[in-house]
Amino acid sequence: MARKVLTVLLPLLLCVIAFAGLLLLSIPIRNVREPPSYKYGIVLDAGSSHTSMFVYKWIEEKENGTGIVSQHSMCDVHGGGISSYAENPSEAAESLVECLNQALKDVPKKRHPITPLYLGATAGMRLLNLTNPAASASVLSSVNEMLSKYPFDFRGARILSGQDEGVLGWVTANYLLENFIKYGWAGEWFRPKRGTVGAMDLGGASTQITFETASQTEDPANEVRLQLYGKSYRVYTHSFLCYGRDQMLKKLLAGVLQRHSTHPCWPVGYSAKVFLKDVYSSPCTSAQRPPDYDVSAEVTLSGSGNPILCQQLVSDLFNFSSCSFSQCSFNDVFQPPLSGNFIAFSAFYYTMDFLQKVMKLPVTSTAELRTAAKALCNESWEKLLELAPSQKSRLADYCASATFVHQLLVQGYRFDEHTFPRIAFQKKAGDTSIGWALGYMLNLTNMIPAGQMHFHKGTDHATWAVLLLIFIMIILISLVMIFCFARSSKTQSAI
Ligand SMILES: *[C@@H]1O[C@H](CO)[C@@H](O)[C@H](O)[C@H]1NC(C)=O
Ligand SMILES: *[C@@H]1O[C@H](CO)[C@@H](O)[C@H](O)[C@H]1NC(C)=O
Ligand SMILES: *[C@@H]1O[C@H](CO)[C@@H](O)[C@H](O)[C@H]1NC(C)=O
Ligand SMILES: *[C@@H]1O[C@H](CO)[C@@H](O)[C@H](O)[C@H]1NC(C)=O
Repeated sequence: MARKVLTVLLPLLLCVIAFAGLLLLSIPIRNVREPPSYKYGIVLDAGSSHTSMFVYKWIEEKENGTGIVSQHSMCDVHGGGISSYAENPSEAAESLVECLNQALKDVPKKRHPITPLYLGATAGMRLLNLTNPAASASVLSSVNEMLSKYPFDFRGARILSGQDEGVLGWVTANYLLENFIKYGWAGEWFRPKRGTVGAMDLGGASTQITFETASQTEDPANEVRLQLYGKSYRVYTHSFLCYGRDQMLKKLLAGVLQRHSTHPCWPVGYSAKVFLKDVYSSPCTSAQRPPDYDVSAEVTLSGSGNPILCQQLVSDLFNFSSCSFSQCSFNDVFQPPLSGNFIAFSAFYYTMDFLQKVMKLPVTSTAELRTAAKALCNESWEKLLELAPSQKSRLADYCASATFVHQLLVQGYRFDEHTFPRIAFQKKAGDTSIGWALGYMLNLTNMIPAGQMHFHKGTDHATWAVLLLIFIMIILISLVMIFCFARSSKTQSAI
């Protein structure tokens, strides 16, 4: 009898101990000692159409890793982009207050003074700086003044160059996808074999394409060399100013006013007032601007929903007639052959998402995208309103956007039936938005070291792995013993 008790109790006891051990092992060590201490960083992405605030966080002791920083929270500023306040700059600063006050709550109070705060402005401000440098300077200085009033470690408001915007978007995407270095299961850093992904960004006033290339870059303006985690990367990048969604729409309107009486990219049944000043005040439409147009005039345009005419109108945005290099995308801009996979975010994502989710159209090939854009352009205003009432303010422009995205990718960048499926259209990686903002913060806080990582930590995790194995073995052995005992006692009682 005593032997029986021993054979069942001992394995049970072992089993419980091993299980407790497993539980302890699965809790990260730092949790046992103390809760992780987070660091925070804030970036205001001052785009041409609106400003977004991103609050990032990361665990302090891991800051040199990759994929470590994640998005803690975000806030959309109400109203237009800061460049839209050219006539009353102080309101640009005022518009940011609501989000900044949210940041005061999102970041723990004792971290405020060590939390870096940046504002980066993109193509909207680049355009304003072209047309009215004084206005752009006073918008920036009013914003600067407001941001310095907050208890954060404010490090300046700047206008990014198109090149920075492209490269930082590429850094963000590859950092989040852990394509530079990755933390292995056994606790060591290694460099994944899969290589980097290219990045395509479609903003309000500009669009960027950036990818790693092994080819000769014939125009030095398009080449950026980066040193990240001990490896050098040769990256091609170009930013097309005026090829963002809103400026592209203005260029189309200018084309319509020149040559058509109705807008072929707007749906049948839709009409709207167009203020000539809104169309022609942008430097992007200066070539089409009539010399003596009436600044206060407005015209009423209605849609004719004509996919073919819309396609022609959009194709006039691209100039393929000259190339001073061995190969070009368009407008005499050098582009080496496309290579690798791509990720396309911002308005690329929103346009494709509309075609797929609202229109229920497949867009997995260039032919499907073309067909989908045509079908969308052929829909009436009534039908579109029925399909997506919540998007009323943008609905009329989706036909132009879809047609533009198709031509930009296929005729412009030369994606074909083989390379198009390598594009992933997504706006986030995990919970973090893809865009230049995270890369900007990583760069300015030196969180991506140029040199080789120190590959330590291995022994800790080897011990951990061995302990894990031992505990699992003990549990298995105990279970087998219990099972055998149960069987033998059953056969005994049967006898
Ligand atoms: C991160 O890297 C920088 C420069 O290589 C170094 O000074 C710093 O101590 C590192 N931080 C951590 C937490 O390892
Ligand atoms: C505005 O443009 C000029 C000329 O390109 C440039 O020197 C200046 O730095 C720009 N302003 C800002 C705030 O970036
Ligand atoms: C295309 O670009 C070339 C050279 O820059 C220019 O001469 C030509 O007029 C442009 N064509 C159109 C249609 O804009
Ligand atoms: C356009 O819509 C009309 C009716 O709304 C339909 O008859 C026609 O086939 C459509 N054309 C295309 C190309 O989808």
